[in-house]
Amino acid sequence: MQRVAVFASGSGTNLQSLLDHFNRGAGDVARIALVVSDRAGAGALGRAAAAGVATRVIAVRDREAEVVAAETLAALAEHGIGVIALAGYLRLVPDTVVQRYAGRIVNIHPALLPAFGGPGMYGIRVHRAVIDAGCAVSGVTVHHVDERYDEGRPIAQWPVPVLRGDTPETLAARVLHVEHRLYPFALEALCAGLERAAPPDRGDPRLEDPAAFALIEDTAPSDGSLRRMLGLDREAT
Ligand code: GRF
Repeated sequence: MQRVAVFASGSGTNLQSLLDHFNRGAGDVARIALVVSDRAGAGALGRAAAAGVATRVIAVRDREAEVVAAETLAALAEHGIGVIALAGYLRLVPDTVVQRYAGRIVNIHPALLPAFGGPGMYGIRVHRAVIDAGCAVSGVTVHHVDERYDEGRPIAQWPVPVLRGDTPETLAARVLHVEHRLYPFALEALCAGLERAAPPDRGDPRLEDPAAFALIEDTAPSDGSLRRMLGLDREAT
Protein backbone atom coordinates (compact mmCIF):
# COMPACT_ATOMS: atom_id res chain seq x y z
CA MET A 1 0.00 0.00 0.00
CA GLN A 2 1.48 3.31 -1.11
CA ARG A 3 0.73 6.28 1.13
CA VAL A 4 0.25 9.26 -1.20
CA ALA A 5 0.55 12.99 -0.43
CA VAL A 6 -1.38 15.30 -2.76
CA PHE A 7 -0.02 18.86 -3.15
CA ALA A 8 -2.66 21.40 -4.21
CA SER A 9 -2.94 25.20 -4.26
CA GLY A 10 -6.49 25.56 -5.58
CA SER A 11 -10.00 24.20 -5.47
CA GLY A 12 -8.87 20.58 -5.56
CA THR A 13 -11.29 18.93 -7.98
CA ASN A 14 -8.48 16.58 -9.07
CA LEU A 15 -7.75 15.84 -5.41
CA GLN A 16 -11.44 14.95 -5.08
CA SER A 17 -11.23 12.46 -7.95
CA LEU A 18 -8.21 10.85 -6.26
CA LEU A 19 -9.99 10.71 -2.88
CA ASP A 20 -13.06 9.17 -4.52
CA HIS A 21 -10.92 6.56 -6.28
CA PHE A 22 -8.48 5.57 -3.54
CA ASN A 23 -10.05 6.43 -0.17
CA ARG A 24 -13.54 5.02 -0.65
CA GLY A 25 -12.49 1.42 -0.11
CA ALA A 26 -11.39 0.86 -3.72
CA GLY A 27 -8.33 -1.37 -3.95
CA ASP A 28 -5.33 -1.66 -1.71
CA VAL A 29 -2.67 -0.18 -3.98
CA ALA A 30 -2.72 3.36 -2.59
CA ARG A 31 -4.37 5.73 -0.13
CA ILE A 32 -4.29 9.53 0.01
CA ALA A 33 -2.75 10.05 3.46
CA LEU A 34 -1.83 13.75 3.43
CA VAL A 35 -2.78 16.92 1.58
CA VAL A 36 -0.20 19.72 1.45
CA SER A 37 -0.98 23.27 0.33
CA ASP A 38 0.98 26.51 0.14
CA ARG A 39 -2.27 28.44 0.71
CA ALA A 40 -4.29 28.28 3.94
CA GLY A 41 -7.45 29.18 1.98
CA ALA A 42 -7.14 26.44 -0.66
CA GLY A 43 -10.41 24.61 -1.29
CA ALA A 44 -8.39 21.39 -1.45
CA LEU A 45 -7.83 21.57 2.33
CA GLY A 46 -11.58 21.49 2.96
CA ARG A 47 -11.99 18.48 0.67
CA ALA A 48 -9.22 16.67 2.55
CA ALA A 49 -10.76 17.45 5.93
CA ALA A 50 -14.17 16.25 4.72
CA ALA A 51 -12.56 12.95 3.71
CA GLY A 52 -10.77 12.64 7.06
CA VAL A 53 -7.33 13.11 5.48
CA ALA A 54 -4.55 14.97 7.32
CA THR A 55 -3.62 18.40 5.99
CA ARG A 56 -0.54 20.60 6.24
CA VAL A 57 -0.09 24.20 5.09
CA ILE A 58 3.52 24.86 4.12
CA ALA A 59 4.09 28.48 3.08
CA VAL A 60 6.48 28.95 0.16
CA ARG A 61 6.40 32.66 -0.67
CA ASP A 62 9.46 34.65 0.54
CA ARG A 63 11.03 31.58 2.16
CA GLU A 64 14.34 29.86 1.36
CA ALA A 65 13.86 26.72 -0.74
CA GLU A 66 15.89 24.65 1.72
CA VAL A 67 13.71 25.74 4.65
CA VAL A 68 10.60 24.76 2.67
CA ALA A 69 12.27 21.49 1.67
CA ALA A 70 13.14 20.58 5.27
CA GLU A 71 9.60 21.32 6.47
CA THR A 72 8.11 19.37 3.57
CA LEU A 73 10.35 16.32 4.04
CA ALA A 74 9.57 16.29 7.77
CA ALA A 75 5.81 16.32 7.07
CA LEU A 76 6.17 13.56 4.46
CA ALA A 77 8.22 11.41 6.87
CA GLU A 78 5.76 11.99 9.70
CA HIS A 79 2.95 10.60 7.53
CA GLY A 80 4.99 7.76 5.98
CA ILE A 81 4.51 9.14 2.45
CA GLY A 82 5.92 7.08 -0.43
CA VAL A 83 4.41 8.94 -3.42
CA ILE A 84 3.65 12.61 -4.15
CA ALA A 85 0.90 13.64 -6.59
CA LEU A 86 0.79 17.32 -7.57
CA ALA A 87 -2.76 18.43 -8.42
CA GLY A 88 -2.93 22.12 -9.23
CA TYR A 89 0.12 22.92 -7.08
CA LEU A 90 1.41 26.24 -8.39
CA ARG A 91 4.85 26.24 -6.76
CA LEU A 92 8.06 24.59 -7.90
CA VAL A 93 8.76 21.70 -5.51
CA PRO A 94 12.25 22.16 -3.95
CA ASP A 95 14.99 20.16 -5.70
CA THR A 96 15.80 18.26 -2.50
CA VAL A 97 12.25 16.92 -2.32
CA VAL A 98 12.13 16.08 -6.04
CA GLN A 99 15.42 14.20 -5.80
CA ARG A 100 14.36 12.30 -2.67
CA TYR A 101 11.12 11.23 -4.43
CA ALA A 102 12.57 10.64 -7.92
CA GLY A 103 10.27 8.26 -9.80
CA ARG A 104 7.65 8.71 -7.06
CA ILE A 105 6.47 12.27 -7.74
CA VAL A 106 3.97 13.03 -10.51
CA ASN A 107 1.93 15.95 -11.85
CA ILE A 108 -1.13 16.46 -14.02
CA HIS A 109 -1.07 19.06 -16.80
CA PRO A 110 -4.12 20.18 -18.83
CA ALA A 111 -2.52 19.83 -22.30
CA LEU A 112 -0.50 17.34 -24.33
CA LEU A 113 3.08 17.93 -23.17
CA PRO A 114 5.66 18.83 -24.33
CA ALA A 115 3.41 21.40 -26.04
CA PHE A 116 1.85 24.17 -23.93
CA GLY A 117 3.89 23.58 -20.78
CA GLY A 118 6.64 25.32 -18.86
CA PRO A 119 6.85 28.36 -16.56
CA GLY A 120 3.75 30.56 -16.60
CA MET A 121 1.75 27.97 -18.55
CA TYR A 122 -0.94 27.02 -16.05
CA GLY A 123 -4.68 27.32 -15.58
CA ILE A 124 -6.71 29.18 -18.17
CA ARG A 125 -3.51 30.42 -19.89
CA VAL A 126 -2.89 26.91 -21.20
CA HIS A 127 -6.29 26.69 -22.86
CA ARG A 128 -6.07 30.22 -24.25
CA ALA A 129 -2.70 29.38 -25.82
CA VAL A 130 -4.08 26.16 -27.34
CA ILE A 131 -7.00 28.06 -28.91
CA ASP A 132 -4.80 30.96 -30.05
CA ALA A 133 -2.45 28.48 -31.75
CA GLY A 134 -5.42 27.09 -33.72
CA CYS A 135 -5.00 23.52 -32.41
CA ALA A 136 -7.78 21.03 -33.13
CA VAL A 137 -6.71 18.72 -30.30
CA SER A 138 -5.60 19.33 -26.74
CA GLY A 139 -5.55 16.81 -23.93
CA VAL A 140 -4.24 15.73 -20.56
CA THR A 141 -0.78 14.58 -19.49
CA VAL A 142 0.19 12.84 -16.25
CA HIS A 143 3.97 12.93 -15.98
CA HIS A 144 6.93 12.40 -13.69
CA VAL A 145 8.23 15.55 -12.01
CA ASP A 146 11.82 16.67 -12.29
CA GLU A 147 13.53 19.93 -11.35
CA ARG A 148 11.95 21.84 -14.26
CA TYR A 149 8.30 22.71 -14.91
CA ASP A 150 6.42 20.15 -17.03
CA GLU A 151 9.47 18.34 -18.45
CA GLY A 152 9.37 14.93 -16.75
CA ARG A 153 8.57 11.77 -18.70
CA PRO A 154 4.84 11.18 -19.40
CA ILE A 155 3.05 8.33 -17.61
CA ALA A 156 -0.31 8.71 -19.38
CA GLN A 157 -1.85 11.04 -21.96
CA TRP A 158 -5.34 11.41 -23.39
CA PRO A 159 -6.56 13.63 -26.25
CA VAL A 160 -9.45 16.09 -25.98
CA PRO A 161 -10.92 17.80 -29.06
CA VAL A 162 -10.97 21.58 -29.41
CA LEU A 163 -14.38 22.47 -30.84
CA ARG A 164 -15.22 25.37 -33.07
CA GLY A 165 -16.50 28.22 -30.90
CA ASP A 166 -14.62 26.98 -27.82
CA THR A 167 -13.56 29.62 -25.34
CA PRO A 168 -10.68 28.95 -22.95
CA GLU A 169 -13.34 28.27 -20.31
CA THR A 170 -15.36 25.72 -22.31
CA LEU A 171 -12.16 23.92 -23.35
CA ALA A 172 -10.91 23.96 -19.74
CA ALA A 173 -14.12 22.29 -18.58
CA ARG A 174 -13.87 19.54 -21.23
CA VAL A 175 -10.21 18.92 -20.37
CA LEU A 176 -10.88 18.92 -16.62
CA HIS A 177 -13.50 16.21 -17.06
CA VAL A 178 -10.84 13.99 -18.65
CA GLU A 179 -8.30 14.92 -15.96
CA HIS A 180 -10.66 13.54 -13.34
CA ARG A 181 -10.88 10.24 -15.26
CA LEU A 182 -7.20 9.88 -16.15
CA TYR A 183 -5.35 10.89 -12.97
CA PRO A 184 -6.67 8.14 -10.66
CA PHE A 185 -5.78 5.39 -13.14
CA ALA A 186 -2.35 6.83 -13.98
CA LEU A 187 -1.54 7.14 -10.27
CA GLU A 188 -2.85 3.65 -9.60
CA ALA A 189 -0.62 2.28 -12.39
CA LEU A 190 2.42 4.03 -10.91
CA CYS A 191 1.65 2.80 -7.38
CA ALA A 192 0.98 -0.74 -8.62
CA GLY A 193 4.39 -0.70 -10.35
CA LEU A 194 6.03 0.50 -7.13
CA GLU A 195 4.22 -2.22 -5.14
CA ARG A 196 5.71 -4.80 -7.52
CA ALA A 197 9.08 -3.12 -6.88
CA ALA A 198 9.38 -2.38 -10.59
CA PRO A 199 11.96 0.27 -11.44
CA PRO A 200 9.86 3.44 -11.13
CA ASP A 201 11.31 5.35 -14.08
CA ARG A 202 11.27 2.57 -16.67
CA GLY A 203 7.61 3.10 -17.51
CA ASP A 204 6.78 3.74 -21.13
CA PRO A 205 3.36 5.27 -21.78
CA ARG A 206 3.27 3.89 -25.32
CA LEU A 207 0.87 0.97 -25.29
CA GLU A 208 1.99 -2.47 -26.45
CA ASP A 209 -1.51 -3.73 -27.09
CA PRO A 210 -3.21 -2.06 -30.08
CA ALA A 211 -6.59 -3.13 -28.65
CA ALA A 212 -6.00 -0.60 -25.88
CA PHE A 213 -6.46 2.07 -28.51
CA ALA A 214 -10.05 0.98 -29.11
CA LEU A 215 -11.42 3.95 -27.21
CA ILE A 216 -9.45 6.36 -29.33
CA GLU A 217 -10.42 4.57 -32.54
CA ASP A 218 -14.08 4.62 -31.50
CA THR A 219 -13.90 8.37 -31.37
CA ALA A 220 -11.81 8.68 -34.53
CA PRO A 221 -13.37 11.09 -37.03
CA SER A 222 -15.42 9.61 -39.86
CA ASP A 223 -14.77 10.56 -43.49
CA GLY A 224 -17.79 12.85 -43.23
CA SER A 225 -16.56 14.69 -40.15
CA LEU A 226 -13.07 15.06 -41.66
CA ARG A 227 -14.62 16.59 -44.80
CA ARG A 228 -16.72 18.96 -42.66
CA MET A 229 -13.71 19.94 -40.52
CA LEU A 230 -11.70 20.84 -43.62
CA GLY A 231 -14.59 22.57 -45.36
CA LEU A 232 -14.58 20.07 -48.24
CA ASP A 233 -18.36 19.60 -48.10
CA ARG A 234 -18.85 23.22 -49.09
CA GLU A 235 -16.76 22.69 -52.23
CA ALA A 236 -18.67 19.53 -53.15
CA THR A 237 -22.09 21.21 -53.06
C1 GRF B 1 -5.87 21.27 -13.27
O1 GRF B 1 -6.28 21.75 -14.51
C2 GRF B 1 -4.53 20.63 -13.36
O2 GRF B 1 -4.29 20.00 -14.59
C3 GRF B 1 -3.59 21.78 -13.20
O3 GRF B 1 -4.22 22.61 -12.25
C4 GRF B 1 -5.63 22.41 -12.28
C5 GRF B 1 -6.08 22.10 -10.89
O4 GRF B 1 -7.47 22.09 -10.79
N1 GRF B 1 -2.27 21.34 -12.84
P1 GRF B 1 -8.17 21.51 -9.47
O5 GRF B 1 -7.66 22.35 -8.29
O6 GRF B 1 -7.79 20.09 -9.34
O7 GRF B 1 -9.63 21.70 -9.69
